[in-house]
Amino acid sequence: MEKCSSVRHVAIIMDGNGRWAEQRGLPRSEGHRQGAETVSRVLEGALDLGIEYLTLYAFSTENWKRPVSEVHALMGLLEEFIDQKLPDFQEKNVRLKTIGRTSGLPSGAAKKLLRAVDLTRNNRAGTLILALNYGGRAEIADAAAALAKAVAAGKVHPEQVNEALFSSFLYDPEIPDPDLMIRTSGELRISNFLLWQLAYSEFYITDKLWPDFTAGDLVEAVTAFSRRKRRFGGR
Ligand code: FPP
Repeated sequence: MEKCSSVRHVAIIMDGNGRWAEQRGLPRSEGHRQGAETVSRVLEGALDLGIEYLTLYAFSTENWKRPVSEVHALMGLLEEFIDQKLPDFQEKNVRLKTIGRTSGLPSGAAKKLLRAVDLTRNNRAGTLILALNYGGRAEIADAAAALAKAVAAGKVHPEQVNEALFSSFLYDPEIPDPDLMIRTSGELRISNFLLWQLAYSEFYITDKLWPDFTAGDLVEAVTAFSRRKRRFGGR
């Protein structure tokens, strides 16, 4: 597969697990299980394409409103995913990161997640970022709170506040803004995902449900992206 130099960062809203399961008369948790399989396939595809950063919206700050049994199933899948994939990450030199209010996750899942993040921190083939207990508004509010503290402590002067300084208070300022945002299952919404970082990202919406999404679909999205002209507000 030809390496793709113009797409450094792809962010994905993985939508449609529930519908995939309902269409087959299966419990929603089965849709999420298939969705976790898709995560592995798409990660492989992203590495083949030379994509440096892949951010996946795995659990939003709003997803707590779902029935306890579904939340429980999702957290269980996350733990299983980490247990199964950690050796792979090490072998393939993949770094795992997470963005979101990690301290609000169940302690077992948070512990596993942070251990995997720590163990893979020096891996350099690519970075998988799991957005967990993540909300774009929460991130901006958390950054504003951290910035306000820095101002109150005299470390930052209000006149110094600009976009670059504000960005440095986001969850992980090292991660570049996404070039491409993909959403599966045809919904035309941003759903509180990376509100700050998606300012100039290209959007690619596909009707495919996340469990049906393949590495070939990722190639298709990246090919569509490469035909776009990005102007970043200029001409
Ligand atoms: C949206 O589908 C998907 C989610 C809320 C969770 C995404 C989780 C996974 C893909 C599996 C676990 C992830 C990892 C990293 C192990 P939906 O349930 O809203 O689908 P619907 O809109 O069809 O109901």
